Amino acid sequence: MQDIAPKREDLDPIERASRDELEALQLKRLKWSLGHAFENSPVYRKKFEDAAVHPDDVSSLADLARLPFTRKAELRENYPFGMFAVPREKLARVHASSGTTGKPTVVGYTKNDIDVWAEVMARSIRASGGRAGDVVHVAYGYGLFTGGLGAHYGAERLGCTVVPASGGMTERQVTLIRDFGAQVIMVTPSYMLSILDEFREQGLDPKDTQLKVGIFGAEPWTGSMRTEIEEAFGIHAVDIYGLSEIIGPGVANECVETKDGLHIWEDHFFPEVIDPATGAVLPDGERGELVLTSLTKEAFPVIRYRTGDLTRLLPGTARTMRRMEKVTGRSDDMMIVRGVNVFPTQIEEQILKCEGLAPHYQIELTRYGRMDNMTVLSEAVSDAASKEAREASGAELAHHIKSVIGVTAAVRVGEPGSVERSQGKARRIIDKRSAG
Ligand code: DLL
Repeated sequence: MQDIAPKREDLDPIERASRDELEALQLKRLKWSLGHAFENSPVYRKKFEDAAVHPDDVSSLADLARLPFTRKAELRENYPFGMFAVPREKLARVHASSGTTGKPTVVGYTKNDIDVWAEVMARSIRASGGRAGDVVHVAYGYGLFTGGLGAHYGAERLGCTVVPASGGMTERQVTLIRDFGAQVIMVTPSYMLSILDEFREQGLDPKDTQLKVGIFGAEPWTGSMRTEIEEAFGIHAVDIYGLSEIIGPGVANECVETKDGLHIWEDHFFPEVIDPATGAVLPDGERGELVLTSLTKEAFPVIRYRTGDLTRLLPGTARTMRRMEKVTGRSDDMMIVRGVNVFPTQIEEQILKCEGLAPHYQIELTRYGRMDNMTVLSEAVSDAASKEAREASGAELAHHIKSVIGVTAAVRVGEPGSVERSQGKARRIIDKRSAG
């Protein structure tokens, strides 16, 4: 793999500033953001008043902990524009995430917010090893989802040639990647695997492209999946994190030179990690739920937003900003199987240890009486695998799951192509428990 790290002099000055400089900027911006939310969003004003705090009470970054959290349910209750802090005429764009139930969560941007978003996305692509002049293939979905347009604006800002492929039509993705000579691809890791299948289907060598790096996010994925993708395509695979409520993709990104977790662009998004049960702020290094506060957003300021994502904060390495450890799961995706907490990524890790198994999977949960049962649906790598060979791979996986995670799982190994393919965020859990 090529050495594609950006030169230090090409970074934004704040990426290599001292911690003191960064924190001074954060405090200045935090005060502005709290004042802006209080003055211009009736919802935030009421929240602050109910909690008997005023933005003027905040004189240090640690004081942020005195403010109340914001939860997804509040965004839904104020659907569609109730939490915005600018008049509708000042909105340049809205995005929305569908969620699993009910109304979507709507977020809004002023022109300036879109500008900041393009800047943090350009920074993310550069940290990943992309540079001006590169061809960037964007296979995140375009539309209300923030992935496609977020990546698009960032790549344009960096000075790249953007191919706005969006998700779907996998055969055509392969043609475009090859014919237009993409050096960078931005896509969910699960859809990258579908693209990989398509290369093989067409008898093409996935290493025979101009690609040097893939920027993968929007869903949890493991270090083992990184190795799988890096080896198959001969590229670097880096992690990008974000959520629509905060801005979209570009809240945090891994640096290609270290690949040791995601640097949070802390000059725009202030992170805390809390104990999800008590709400207490945890010291850096301890695992808990990530809480984010926007420092510069105009249309839709978010104060202490509970992301539901589980991670921990670590000191900066390649940049001044702190890192967050790869998000291995959301609190919503945690399965409790006979008392043991299990995340889909833990299953993914075990699947990737089994040579006979492809990296595609889903987990089916069923209930008999009061017992939860987990069935892992996976598939054989090779068309030629006999029924016996598939059963042996299934037994191997069940053994790893039992001995490493400590739960008993049934495993079904189908033929290649039998597991549902993703064109965006993969659906990992099929919950059939309510039926039982
Ligand atoms: O998924 C934004 C995005 C687009 C991020 C493209 C990266 C690339 P939402 O649809 O609002 O926004 O979903 C946000 O997805 O709270 C996490 O649970 C999950 N997520 C996003 N990135 C990662 C990641 C976009 N790198 C939710 N690792 C978040 C693990 C991620 N989970």
